[in-house]
Amino acid sequence: MLESGCAPGGQSQEAVKPQEERRWYSASRRQVLFLILVSIVVFFFFNINIPDWDPTKWWFSPSSQRQSAVSTNASGYGTTATGPDPTEFTTEFTTKFTTEFGPAAIPQNRTDVAPDVATDVAPEVATRPVTPSEGEKPTAPPYKSPGPYLVEYPAEYHFLINEPEACVRQKTFVVLVVPVAPGNRAHRDVIRGTWGSDRSASGQPVTLVFLTGLPGGEGAAQIQERLLEESRQHRDLIQSDFLDCYKNLTIKTMVMMEWLDSHCSSASYAMKIDSDMFLNVQKLVDTLLDAPKKSYMTGLVTSYGMVLRDRTSKWFLPVEIYSSFFYPTYALGLGYIVSLDLPKKLVEASRHVKAVYIEDVFLGMCMKFLGIPYTNPPRADYFHVFPREYSRCAYSQIIATTTQPNVDLVSIWKDFKRPGPPC
Ligand SMILES: *[C@@H]1O[C@H](CO)[C@@H](O)[C@H](O)[C@H]1NC(C)=O
Repeated sequence: MLESGCAPGGQSQEAVKPQEERRWYSASRRQVLFLILVSIVVFFFFNINIPDWDPTKWWFSPSSQRQSAVSTNASGYGTTATGPDPTEFTTEFTTKFTTEFGPAAIPQNRTDVAPDVATDVAPEVATRPVTPSEGEKPTAPPYKSPGPYLVEYPAEYHFLINEPEACVRQKTFVVLVVPVAPGNRAHRDVIRGTWGSDRSASGQPVTLVFLTGLPGGEGAAQIQERLLEESRQHRDLIQSDFLDCYKNLTIKTMVMMEWLDSHCSSASYAMKIDSDMFLNVQKLVDTLLDAPKKSYMTGLVTSYGMVLRDRTSKWFLPVEIYSSFFYPTYALGLGYIVSLDLPKKLVEASRHVKAVYIEDVFLGMCMKFLGIPYTNPPRADYFHVFPREYSRCAYSQIIATTTQPNVDLVSIWKDFKRPGPPC
């Protein structure tokens, strides 16, 4: 099923056979005119509302790579699935591919521009029989699940563990936020011992925090106990009170935006990065020193991805939830960067956009709502969705890559940081 979403264009476009070309040249003038007409129609069809259209994305979208990366992963939980914690999710899942089209999707979700919704609601409220309250207290409306494709957001979540001073303490330039499952201490310790230990680069302070939700199921109380202990020890944990699970990633991301807005607006940038990634902090900082200061969001930006309508797909979205044929432009969830003026705007936008469970696509929807385009990184090979094999030289030239679950990040880091020119 994943294959079905794969743009066959990726390879076949390059492999235009000579006889195909001949066929093209020998076509009648009428056929040629017809083809040109069709091309123009197709071009307009796909370009409505797309400010940053880039033809290279059309044929060489990294998403098609990503689909194969994911389809090789039987569990569908991304590369971390084989790791110590199955509730961990690289947003590998966000593999879907990209595209932007169908302005219908977002406006229909906007409550502020939907007068029909308002008029629908008003009479209902007016005619509802008023139940005489015989001394009974007003009760909250009964809980209604948003269903499998939406999440409970916006909602009032609270921080159970917090580091409100994390960004202020050291005048942070860039804050790294790593979403992680509560029980996944193993990944946190690897990060603390590797790229998370780089606390400055090019003279710019870097801050690291881990973001987690509530542990669920058996052993939850014990995990919570250990989290508190770990937090006392490292002072780098942030925990919110939503139930931490795969389907709640969008809540995690939005809680991160809320946290960045309330506690880190003094810093310049934030990078959300999955816990199974390799990060070159030096390259990240050097890139950001030359980046726009405002309305900046970058990463592995993809466009023109088809929404998966196969019910068995990991990332299935029904038409009733998201009607467009394509996803909006978005940055793959494995690692993306925002300038810190954006969290406030994204939180605001999230009140008007249906919170789908696919977190990076949801941010894409919010960015579209805001009318803020994504920015491509200065080089296309700065972010890797396919695990890049380690070499000191190769890793010195990228910002981030996924890693194989069995790779020893600690020894890679040792080698990476040893003195001497990497290439
Ligand atoms: C997501 O979190 C909310 C808030 O904690 C919770 O009510 C809901 O059950 C969680 N969703 C899943 C699928 O566990």
